Formats: sequence, C-alpha cells, structure tokens
Amino acid sequence: MFQIQAKRIYLRDHLPADLQDFHELLSNPQVNRYLSVRSGSVDESGKRFEECLLEANNSNRKKYFLAVCLNESHQIIGESGFTILDRYEKGGVAEIGYFLKPAFWGFGYAQEIAAALINACFTTMNFDKVTATCDSRNAASAKVMQKCGMTLEQSVKSHYPDGEDFLQLEFSIKRHPE
Ligand SMILES: CC(C)(COP(=O)(O)OP(=O)(O)OC[C@H]1O[C@@H](n2cnc3c(N)ncnc32)[C@H](O)[C@@H]1OP(=O)(O)O)[C@@H](O)C(=O)NCCC(=O)NCCS
Repeated sequence: MFQIQAKRIYLRDHLPADLQDFHELLSNPQVNRYLSVRSGSVDESGKRFEECLLEANNSNRKKYFLAVCLNESHQIIGESGFTILDRYEKGGVAEIGYFLKPAFWGFGYAQEIAAALINACFTTMNFDKVTATCDSRNAASAKVMQKCGMTLEQSVKSHYPDGEDFLQLEFSIKRHPE
C-alpha cells in the first residue's frame, strides 16, 4: 500500500471501507465549490471511488488518490494525492491536490499535506517538478501553495464541467531551482 507519513497525519491508498467518507467529501457543497470533480449521489461517488481502487493496483499507475488520516485516531479527514503528468528517464512532473472536511479547516493540515506530497514527489518518486492549480477565488488553497514554496506560473481562463467560467492559477515548484 502506497503511504506517505507526515507529522500529524498520513496519506494512504484507499480501502473499500473509505467510500462513505469519500462521498461525504465529494458531495459537500462547501468542499466541492472550487473542485472540478463533484458527486451528487452515492452511485456517482462509487464510480470515482472504484477508479481510485483500480489505479492503486495498476502496474502503470498514473493517479495516486490517497485518504488523509489522523496519526492518532486513524480518522479520515480528507482526500489528497497526485497525478503523473509526464514521466521521462531522469524525472517527471506531477500535479498535486487536496481537500478536507470543513471541521478540519484552519489547522494547517493542508499545508502539511501539500508539503508531504511535494517531498514524496521529489524523493520517493524522483520527479523534478510539481504543479498545482486552483480557482483564483480559492484564497486558502492559493495560500497553501505559496506557503509550500510554489510560485505562480500563469493564470488561465478555464471552466467547470457545468460551464461556469473561472480564472485558474497554475503554481509549480522545481526540485532543483535554476
Ligand atoms: C483549501 C483547503 C484544503 C485549506 O485547508 P486548511 O487545512 O484549512 O489550510 P491551512 O490551514 O493549511 O492553510 C490555509 C491558509 O489560508 C488562509 N486562509 C483561509 N481562508 C482564507 C481566505 N478566505 N482568504 C485568505 N486566506 C485564507 C489561512 O489563514 C491559512 O493561512 P495561515 O496559515 O497563514 O493562517 C480547505 O479549505 C479545503 O478543503 N477546501 C475545499 C477543497 C478545496 O478547495 N481544495 C483545494 C482545491 S485547489
């Protein structure tokens, strides 16, 4: 099982029993306001969750969707992970993401998650660049990226699956800055 250990939390591959927490997150309007992935029904969440389980067993794995758990209680407090965008002989590029149950916002968990993901991408995975994007109105997420040392590369017009337009901020960090 793929796992990343941090100070107060750990990130791990999903277990079948995680579906309820997964659905709770993806269907919460507070959580999915700035996410391109939203689930209305348990069935919809179930399909996405199935993809997480399948990817974890894929020998050519590109997506690492991971549950965020508290070290002490093992309670799931959110979702996180990275997607491999490019892979070449001496490195690669991955995009990270994270979202938490609202009860756990404001305690610095997202920064801990993002820092742990970036570290794992540069060490365990041997990538040389990590990217992350957010809606320009998502101030908390943009702040997390900046606090992890990421810099803004560009802002591009984008839209959600339902058609709503938004400005997407694209951040990145390199393992070996020029
Ligand atoms: C974005 C999210 C992950 C942040 O989680 P978190 O654990 O509360 O984040 P942290 O506590 O690590 O840091 C958030 C920082 O943003 C700041 N912040 C929070 N809300 C803010 C706002 N509306 N405007 C400006 N800054 C804000 C906090 O003060 C904190 O900065 P500080 O450490 O200097 O005080 C969480 O709000 C979330 O799950 N949102 C819904 C899903 C989502 O949007 N995910 C990101 C998709 S790109």
